[in-house]
Amino acid sequence: MYSEKVMDHFTNPRNVGEIEDADGIGQVGNAKCGDIMKIYLKIENDIIVDIKFKTFGCGSAIASSSMATELIKGKTINEALKLTNKAVAEALDGLPPVKMHCSVLAEEAIKSALKDYSEKSGVIIEELKDFEPKEDHH
Ligand code: FES
Repeated sequence: MYSEKVMDHFTNPRNVGEIEDADGIGQVGNAKCGDIMKIYLKIENDIIVDIKFKTFGCGSAIASSSMATELIKGKTINEALKLTNKAVAEALDGLPPVKMHCSVLAEEAIKSALKDYSEKSGVIIEELKDFEPKEDHH
């Protein structure tokens, strides 16, 4: 049911933890399953120089957060904004259809953290002006 990559990122997640002096923090939750994901970003000159996550959630949510952090570490803000939940799921060699919503948490947690960075730093990120994480992905 789960790909080897999902199992790998679930049992050995990358970038777990928090960043004390984070430049942006985003937290999103899924109202139905109760799972919560929090992302911490360190940003220098438009580049995501460090990223950490804490996920209180299912295996697919943990694997998705781990993969998503790997995909945008060292990338620009613009590249991070383009990361979709589908790309995260593809990088994991797929998620079962009933688990796709778990990857949505990763996309939205990253966007929330970037929005927080934008508000704190005054750096305008046009794409996130109207961004609000959805509460329910089922
Ligand atoms: Fe809730 Fe996976 S079941 S995030």
